[in-house]
Amino acid sequence: MTDIPFVDLSVHHQPRDLRDRFALGITKLLRLCADTFFARRYGHRAIVLETVAAVPGMVGATLTHLRCLRRMSDDRGWIRTLMEEAENERMHLMTFIQVAQPTLFERMVILGVQWVFYLAFFALYLLSPRTAHRLVGYFEEEAVISYTLYLREIDEGRSANPPAPALARHYWHLPEDATLRDVVLVVRADEAHHRDVNHGFAGELAGLSPAVAPAPYPTHAQDIRIAA
Ligand SMILES: [Fe+2]
Ligand SMILES: [Fe+2]
Repeated sequence: MTDIPFVDLSVHHQPRDLRDRFALGITKLLRLCADTFFARRYGHRAIVLETVAAVPGMVGATLTHLRCLRRMSDDRGWIRTLMEEAENERMHLMTFIQVAQPTLFERMVILGVQWVFYLAFFALYLLSPRTAHRLVGYFEEEAVISYTLYLREIDEGRSANPPAPALARHYWHLPEDATLRDVVLVVRADEAHHRDVNHGFAGELAGLSPAVAPAPYPTHAQDIRIAA
């Protein structure tokens, strides 16, 4: 089985300038909206928010790809990293859709939010990739907190702990008897990794010295079409 990597829950990037404060302010505002809308319905929260979380990686990969073509420059591995992030977030979605079913209203919210968020994030990435990566870093800090709260709900018996979906067992190399709790643990480790990678990219674009190594990334199956 996959070893579930250690997750440092205390990581928080202290805002250093106006861009950081903008990114943190947007994140806190969206957190408030999510808390109001979902309260403790963590399964539903995960589905709707993972449909959003899978967007920035693909936008970042696309625009980095185009910039590298224009400048005929190397991407330093960023494009693959960002595409992997998008795929990983989509697998979070495919996992949680086996755990909870979105309501009709939530499906409508997903459609509307995708239009607005895709266009807004695309524009932000064009204007300031550094702010865009900082924003994702802060989103992922919140994701780590949300999945920690979800774990507490499961541990204290307020949320069910059914067997892990087969797709999730395959994707994270989990044992036959794995439960939803194990899945939330590996998902949270994924989010911690994205958090550190995106804060690291934002730092690099700001000319800061390379950050310490990101939180370890759980291993994932590559043949996800079979899993699905
Ligand atoms: Fe996620
Ligand atoms: Fe995430």
